[in-house]
Amino acid sequence: MNTSCIIRGLGHCVPDSVLTNADFERMVDTNDEWIVTRTGIRERHVALKGETCVDLCHGASVQALKQAGMEASDITHVVLATFSPDAFIPSAACMLSHRLGISGRMAMDVSAACSGFLYALETARALIALHPQAKVLLAACDIVSSRVDYTDRGTCVLFGDGAGAAVITADGPGLTGGRVLDVLVSSDGAVGDLLTIKGGGSGTPYKLGDAIRRDFFVEMNGREVYKHAVRAMSSICEEMLTRHGLTTSDVDVFIPHQANLRIVEAVGKRLDMPEAKVFTNLQKYGNTSAASVPLALSEAVAEGFVKPGSLVLLGTFGGGFTWGSGLLKF
Ligand code: UT7
Repeated sequence: MNTSCIIRGLGHCVPDSVLTNADFERMVDTNDEWIVTRTGIRERHVALKGETCVDLCHGASVQALKQAGMEASDITHVVLATFSPDAFIPSAACMLSHRLGISGRMAMDVSAACSGFLYALETARALIALHPQAKVLLAACDIVSSRVDYTDRGTCVLFGDGAGAAVITADGPGLTGGRVLDVLVSSDGAVGDLLTIKGGGSGTPYKLGDAIRRDFFVEMNGREVYKHAVRAMSSICEEMLTRHGLTTSDVDVFIPHQANLRIVEAVGKRLDMPEAKVFTNLQKYGNTSAASVPLALSEAVAEGFVKPGSLVLLGTFGGGFTWGSGLLKF
Protein backbone atom coordinates (compact mmCIF):
# COMPACT_ATOMS: atom_id res chain seq x y z
CA MET A 1 0.00 0.00 0.00
CA ASN A 2 1.26 3.48 -0.76
CA THR A 3 -0.42 6.45 0.87
CA SER A 4 0.88 9.89 -0.06
CA CYS A 5 1.39 12.22 2.84
CA ILE A 6 1.49 15.90 3.62
CA ILE A 7 3.28 18.14 6.12
CA ARG A 8 0.36 19.94 7.79
CA GLY A 9 2.41 22.11 10.14
CA LEU A 10 6.00 23.10 10.81
CA GLY A 11 7.77 24.67 13.77
CA HIS A 12 11.23 25.38 15.08
CA CYS A 13 12.89 26.37 18.32
CA VAL A 14 16.40 27.41 19.32
CA PRO A 15 17.97 28.24 22.70
CA ASP A 16 18.09 31.92 23.72
CA SER A 17 21.86 32.22 24.14
CA VAL A 18 24.02 33.13 21.16
CA LEU A 19 27.76 32.54 20.65
CA THR A 20 29.22 34.86 18.02
CA ASN A 21 32.52 34.47 16.18
CA ALA A 22 33.87 37.22 18.47
CA ASP A 23 33.00 35.01 21.48
CA PHE A 24 35.05 32.18 19.93
CA GLU A 25 37.98 34.55 19.40
CA ARG A 26 38.09 34.79 23.20
CA MET A 27 37.79 31.01 23.69
CA VAL A 28 40.18 29.46 21.13
CA ASP A 29 42.86 30.46 18.61
CA THR A 30 40.50 31.53 15.82
CA ASN A 31 39.14 34.64 14.19
CA ASP A 32 35.96 35.88 12.54
CA GLU A 33 37.60 36.07 9.12
CA TRP A 34 38.68 32.37 9.21
CA ILE A 35 35.26 31.20 10.37
CA VAL A 36 33.32 33.30 7.86
CA THR A 37 35.51 32.44 4.86
CA ARG A 38 35.77 28.73 5.64
CA THR A 39 32.20 28.14 6.82
CA GLY A 40 29.94 31.18 6.35
CA ILE A 41 28.88 30.90 10.01
CA ARG A 42 28.59 34.14 12.03
CA GLU A 43 26.74 33.00 15.15
CA ARG A 44 24.94 30.02 16.63
CA HIS A 45 22.34 29.48 19.36
CA VAL A 46 23.69 27.34 22.17
CA ALA A 47 21.92 25.81 25.18
CA LEU A 48 23.91 27.76 27.77
CA LYS A 49 20.88 27.98 30.07
CA GLY A 50 20.51 24.20 30.20
CA GLU A 51 17.80 23.78 27.56
CA THR A 52 17.53 20.11 26.60
CA CYS A 53 16.59 18.20 23.49
CA VAL A 54 13.07 17.64 24.82
CA ASP A 55 12.68 21.33 25.76
CA LEU A 56 13.47 22.45 22.20
CA CYS A 57 11.41 19.68 20.60
CA HIS A 58 8.49 20.71 22.78
CA GLY A 59 8.78 24.34 21.63
CA ALA A 60 8.97 23.32 17.96
CA SER A 61 6.16 20.76 18.29
CA VAL A 62 3.73 23.22 19.89
CA GLN A 63 4.24 25.54 16.88
CA ALA A 64 3.86 22.70 14.38
CA LEU A 65 0.64 21.49 16.04
CA LYS A 66 -0.74 25.03 16.06
CA GLN A 67 0.03 25.49 12.37
CA ALA A 68 -1.61 22.12 11.65
CA GLY A 69 -4.68 23.17 13.66
CA MET A 70 -4.35 20.10 15.86
CA GLU A 71 -4.10 19.26 19.53
CA ALA A 72 -1.36 17.05 20.94
CA SER A 73 -4.08 14.51 21.74
CA ASP A 74 -4.70 14.09 17.98
CA ILE A 75 -1.18 12.68 17.49
CA THR A 76 -0.95 8.90 17.02
CA HIS A 77 2.84 8.43 16.61
CA VAL A 78 5.87 10.41 17.79
CA VAL A 79 9.15 10.02 15.90
CA LEU A 80 12.12 12.02 17.16
CA ALA A 81 15.46 12.26 15.36
CA THR A 82 18.48 13.03 17.52
CA PHE A 83 21.93 11.86 18.53
CA SER A 84 21.77 13.93 21.72
CA PRO A 85 18.64 12.87 23.64
CA ASP A 86 18.17 14.03 27.25
CA ALA A 87 19.01 10.47 28.34
CA PHE A 88 19.68 7.04 26.83
CA ILE A 89 16.58 5.80 28.66
CA PRO A 90 13.84 6.99 28.53
CA SER A 91 13.91 7.95 24.87
CA ALA A 92 13.47 11.61 23.98
CA ALA A 93 10.28 10.65 22.07
CA CYS A 94 8.75 9.17 25.24
CA MET A 95 9.77 12.23 27.23
CA LEU A 96 8.37 14.57 24.56
CA SER A 97 5.06 12.66 24.48
CA HIS A 98 4.82 12.97 28.25
CA ARG A 99 5.62 16.70 28.08
CA LEU A 100 2.85 17.11 25.51
CA GLY A 101 0.46 15.29 27.81
CA ILE A 102 -0.05 12.27 25.59
CA SER A 103 0.50 8.57 26.26
CA GLY A 104 -0.48 5.24 24.75
CA ARG A 105 1.09 6.07 21.39
CA MET A 106 4.12 4.68 19.63
CA ALA A 107 7.07 6.95 20.49
CA MET A 108 10.59 6.30 19.30
CA ASP A 109 13.93 7.96 18.60
CA VAL A 110 15.73 7.73 15.27
CA SER A 111 19.52 8.06 15.12
CA ALA A 112 20.88 9.30 11.80
CA ALA A 113 22.90 12.36 12.92
CA CYS A 114 22.42 15.33 10.55
CA SER A 115 20.20 13.26 8.22
CA GLY A 116 17.77 12.55 11.06
CA PHE A 117 14.89 14.62 9.68
CA LEU A 118 14.76 12.79 6.35
CA TYR A 119 15.18 9.40 8.04
CA ALA A 120 12.30 10.28 10.37
CA LEU A 121 10.24 11.56 7.44
CA GLU A 122 10.74 8.25 5.63
CA THR A 123 9.66 6.48 8.84
CA ALA A 124 6.55 8.70 9.01
CA ARG A 125 5.72 7.83 5.39
CA ALA A 126 5.97 4.14 6.21
CA LEU A 127 3.76 4.55 9.28
CA ILE A 128 1.14 6.42 7.28
CA ALA A 129 1.26 3.77 4.54
CA LEU A 130 0.51 1.15 7.23
CA HIS A 131 -1.98 3.29 9.15
CA PRO A 132 -3.63 5.82 6.81
CA GLN A 133 -5.36 7.51 9.75
CA ALA A 134 -2.03 8.16 11.51
CA LYS A 135 -1.13 11.69 12.59
CA VAL A 136 2.61 11.65 13.06
CA LEU A 137 4.52 14.22 15.09
CA LEU A 138 8.06 14.35 13.81
CA ALA A 139 10.67 16.25 15.82
CA ALA A 140 14.36 16.60 14.98
CA CYS A 141 16.75 18.15 17.43
CA ASP A 142 20.33 18.18 18.53
CA ILE A 143 22.00 19.81 21.48
CA VAL A 144 25.34 19.47 19.71
CA SER A 145 26.93 21.73 22.33
CA SER A 146 26.57 18.87 24.85
CA ARG A 147 29.11 16.89 22.81
CA VAL A 148 31.41 19.65 21.54
CA ASP A 149 34.87 20.21 22.96
CA TYR A 150 35.07 23.98 23.35
CA THR A 151 38.88 23.84 23.32
CA ASP A 152 38.96 22.25 19.84
CA ARG A 153 38.87 25.09 17.32
CA GLY A 154 38.49 22.62 14.43
CA THR A 155 34.99 21.62 15.55
CA CYS A 156 33.61 24.00 18.20
CA VAL A 157 32.99 26.93 15.84
CA LEU A 158 30.87 24.81 13.50
CA PHE A 159 27.92 23.71 15.59
CA GLY A 160 24.79 25.12 17.20
CA ASP A 161 21.70 23.74 18.92
CA GLY A 162 18.14 23.71 17.61
CA ALA A 163 14.98 21.78 16.86
CA GLY A 164 12.46 21.51 14.06
CA ALA A 165 9.11 19.74 14.07
CA ALA A 166 6.47 18.70 11.56
CA VAL A 167 2.99 17.21 11.76
CA ILE A 168 2.41 14.70 8.99
CA THR A 169 -0.76 12.94 7.90
CA ALA A 170 -2.07 11.17 4.82
CA ASP A 171 -2.85 13.58 2.00
CA GLY A 172 -6.46 14.39 1.27
CA PRO A 173 -8.74 16.87 -0.47
CA GLY A 174 -8.71 20.38 0.96
CA LEU A 175 -5.54 19.88 3.01
CA THR A 176 -2.81 22.50 2.81
CA GLY A 177 0.90 22.18 3.51
CA GLY A 178 3.89 20.47 1.91
CA ARG A 179 3.02 17.32 -0.04
CA VAL A 180 5.80 14.80 0.43
CA LEU A 181 6.35 13.61 -3.13
CA ASP A 182 9.35 11.43 -2.34
CA VAL A 183 12.17 10.69 0.10
CA LEU A 184 15.46 8.94 -0.64
CA VAL A 185 17.85 7.98 2.15
CA SER A 186 21.16 6.17 2.12
CA SER A 187 24.12 5.24 4.33
CA ASP A 188 27.68 3.91 4.32
CA GLY A 189 29.16 2.68 7.59
CA ALA A 190 32.54 1.98 5.96
CA VAL A 191 33.53 5.64 6.30
CA GLY A 192 31.76 6.24 9.61
CA ASP A 193 35.02 6.72 11.52
CA LEU A 194 35.56 10.06 9.78
CA LEU A 195 32.95 11.65 12.06
CA THR A 196 32.34 10.15 15.49
CA ILE A 197 31.23 10.60 19.09
CA LYS A 198 32.31 7.29 20.62
CA GLY A 199 32.85 7.90 24.31
CA GLY A 200 30.08 6.65 26.58
CA GLY A 201 28.75 4.18 24.01
CA SER A 202 28.90 0.43 24.71
CA GLY A 203 31.96 0.18 22.43
CA THR A 204 33.81 2.79 24.48
CA PRO A 205 32.17 2.67 27.90
CA TYR A 206 33.05 4.91 30.80
CA LYS A 207 33.46 3.38 34.24
CA LEU A 208 32.51 5.15 37.45
CA GLY A 209 35.29 7.57 38.34
CA ASP A 210 36.76 7.81 34.80
CA ALA A 211 37.63 11.29 33.62
CA ILE A 212 35.83 12.38 30.46
CA ARG A 213 38.14 11.77 27.50
CA ARG A 214 38.44 13.45 24.10
CA ASP A 215 36.30 10.69 22.57
CA PHE A 216 33.27 11.98 24.52
CA PHE A 217 33.11 14.83 22.00
CA VAL A 218 32.69 15.22 18.23
CA GLU A 219 35.82 14.05 16.43
CA MET A 220 35.99 14.71 12.73
CA ASN A 221 38.28 14.64 9.74
CA GLY A 222 36.81 17.87 8.37
CA ARG A 223 38.39 17.73 4.92
CA GLU A 224 37.28 14.17 4.21
CA VAL A 225 33.79 14.79 5.59
CA TYR A 226 33.59 17.85 3.35
CA LYS A 227 34.38 15.83 0.20
CA HIS A 228 31.94 13.04 1.05
CA ALA A 229 29.22 15.57 1.95
CA VAL A 230 29.49 17.36 -1.40
CA ARG A 231 29.55 14.13 -3.44
CA ALA A 232 26.79 12.30 -1.55
CA MET A 233 24.39 15.23 -1.30
CA SER A 234 24.80 16.18 -4.97
CA SER A 235 24.35 12.65 -6.26
CA ILE A 236 21.27 11.82 -4.18
CA CYS A 237 19.62 15.12 -5.17
CA GLU A 238 20.41 14.37 -8.84
CA GLU A 239 18.93 10.89 -8.37
CA MET A 240 15.80 12.41 -6.88
CA LEU A 241 15.34 14.77 -9.84
CA THR A 242 16.04 12.05 -12.43
CA ARG A 243 13.59 9.68 -10.72
CA HIS A 244 10.84 12.25 -11.25
CA GLY A 245 11.88 13.39 -14.74
CA LEU A 246 12.76 16.83 -13.33
CA THR A 247 15.67 19.22 -13.78
CA THR A 248 16.94 21.97 -11.51
CA SER A 249 14.90 24.48 -13.49
CA ASP A 250 11.73 22.78 -12.17
CA VAL A 251 12.88 23.30 -8.57
CA ASP A 252 11.77 26.53 -6.89
CA VAL A 253 13.67 26.17 -3.61
CA PHE A 254 16.67 24.05 -2.65
CA ILE A 255 17.22 23.50 1.09
CA PRO A 256 20.48 21.66 1.74
CA HIS A 257 21.96 20.58 5.06
CA GLN A 258 23.24 23.75 6.74
CA ALA A 259 26.76 22.65 7.66
CA ASN A 260 29.04 24.96 5.75
CA LEU A 261 28.35 27.60 3.09
CA ARG A 262 31.19 26.23 0.95
CA ILE A 263 29.54 22.78 0.94
CA VAL A 264 26.20 24.38 0.04
CA GLU A 265 27.83 26.33 -2.81
CA ALA A 266 29.73 23.29 -4.10
CA VAL A 267 26.54 21.18 -4.12
CA GLY A 268 24.63 24.04 -5.79
CA LYS A 269 27.30 24.25 -8.47
CA ARG A 270 27.22 20.50 -9.16
CA LEU A 271 23.44 20.62 -9.46
CA ASP A 272 23.61 23.79 -11.54
CA MET A 273 21.20 25.34 -9.04
CA PRO A 274 20.87 29.15 -9.25
CA GLU A 275 21.97 30.77 -5.99
CA ALA A 276 18.67 32.64 -5.73
CA LYS A 277 16.83 29.33 -5.22
CA VAL A 278 19.04 28.16 -2.36
CA PHE A 279 17.86 28.84 1.19
CA THR A 280 20.50 29.16 3.89
CA ASN A 281 20.33 30.14 7.54
CA LEU A 282 23.59 28.55 8.73
CA GLN A 283 25.01 32.07 9.08
CA LYS A 284 22.94 32.52 12.27
CA TYR A 285 22.57 28.95 13.52
CA GLY A 286 25.71 27.01 12.49
CA ASN A 287 25.32 23.28 11.93
CA THR A 288 22.42 22.13 14.12
CA SER A 289 22.69 18.49 12.98
CA ALA A 290 19.26 16.78 12.85
CA ALA A 291 17.53 20.16 13.20
CA SER A 292 19.35 21.70 10.26
CA VAL A 293 16.92 20.86 7.45
CA PRO A 294 13.59 21.22 9.34
CA LEU A 295 14.79 24.48 10.96
CA ALA A 296 15.63 25.83 7.51
CA LEU A 297 12.39 24.51 6.00
CA SER A 298 10.28 25.97 8.80
CA GLU A 299 11.99 29.37 8.46
CA ALA A 300 11.82 29.31 4.66
CA VAL A 301 8.04 28.76 4.85
CA ALA A 302 7.57 31.36 7.61
CA GLU A 303 9.59 33.96 5.64
CA GLY A 304 7.71 33.30 2.40
CA PHE A 305 10.83 31.96 0.64
CA VAL A 306 8.75 28.81 0.12
CA LYS A 307 5.39 29.85 -1.32
CA PRO A 308 2.19 27.98 -2.12
CA GLY A 309 3.04 26.04 -5.30
CA SER A 310 6.80 25.87 -4.61
CA LEU A 311 8.60 22.65 -5.52
CA VAL A 312 11.18 22.17 -2.76
CA LEU A 313 14.23 19.92 -2.97
CA LEU A 314 15.86 18.89 0.32
CA GLY A 315 19.38 17.47 0.71
CA THR A 316 21.16 16.18 3.76
CA PHE A 317 24.37 14.56 4.91
CA GLY A 318 25.66 13.44 8.29
CA GLY A 319 27.62 11.08 10.50
CA GLY A 320 27.25 7.38 9.89
CA PHE A 321 27.62 8.34 7.06
CA THR A 322 23.98 9.00 6.26
CA TRP A 323 22.54 11.15 3.52
CA GLY A 324 19.29 11.78 1.75
CA SER A 325 17.01 13.91 -0.36
CA GLY A 326 13.36 14.90 -0.16
CA LEU A 327 10.96 16.39 -2.68
CA LEU A 328 8.04 18.50 -1.43
CA LYS A 329 5.30 20.40 -3.22
CA PHE A 330 3.70 23.26 -1.30
O1 UT7 B 1 27.19 17.67 9.18
C1 UT7 B 1 28.39 17.19 8.71
C2 UT7 B 1 29.38 17.61 9.72
N1 UT7 B 1 30.56 18.20 9.32
C3 UT7 B 1 30.82 19.02 8.26
O2 UT7 B 1 30.04 19.27 7.41
C4 UT7 B 1 32.19 19.59 8.21
C5 UT7 B 1 32.83 19.39 6.88
N2 UT7 B 1 34.12 20.05 6.82
C6 UT7 B 1 34.26 21.39 6.81
O3 UT7 B 1 33.29 22.11 6.83
C7 UT7 B 1 35.66 21.95 6.70
O4 UT7 B 1 36.57 20.90 6.46
C8 UT7 B 1 36.08 22.72 7.98
C9 UT7 B 1 35.30 24.01 8.09
C10 UT7 B 1 35.84 21.85 9.22
C11 UT7 B 1 37.55 23.07 7.91
O5 UT7 B 1 37.83 23.81 6.73
P1 UT7 B 1 39.08 23.38 5.82
O6 UT7 B 1 39.18 24.38 4.76
O7 UT7 B 1 38.86 21.95 5.43
O8 UT7 B 1 40.28 23.56 6.80
P2 UT7 B 1 41.32 22.46 7.33
O9 UT7 B 1 40.66 21.50 8.26
O10 UT7 B 1 42.05 21.89 6.17
O11 UT7 B 1 42.30 23.37 8.16
C12 UT7 B 1 43.05 24.40 7.56
C13 UT7 B 1 43.81 25.14 8.63
C14 UT7 B 1 44.57 24.21 9.58
O12 UT7 B 1 45.79 24.83 9.91
P3 UT7 B 1 47.15 24.40 9.17
O13 UT7 B 1 47.30 22.92 9.47
O14 UT7 B 1 46.94 24.68 7.73
O15 UT7 B 1 48.16 25.26 9.84
C15 UT7 B 1 43.69 24.16 10.79
O16 UT7 B 1 44.41 23.89 11.97
O17 UT7 B 1 42.90 25.87 9.43
C16 UT7 B 1 43.15 25.57 10.83
N3 UT7 B 1 41.92 25.72 11.57
C17 UT7 B 1 41.50 26.88 12.07
N4 UT7 B 1 42.06 28.11 12.06
C18 UT7 B 1 41.38 29.12 12.68
C19 UT7 B 1 40.98 24.77 11.83
N5 UT7 B 1 39.99 25.31 12.54
C20 UT7 B 1 40.27 26.62 12.70
C21 UT7 B 1 39.61 27.68 13.32
N6 UT7 B 1 40.21 28.91 13.27
N7 UT7 B 1 38.43 27.56 13.93
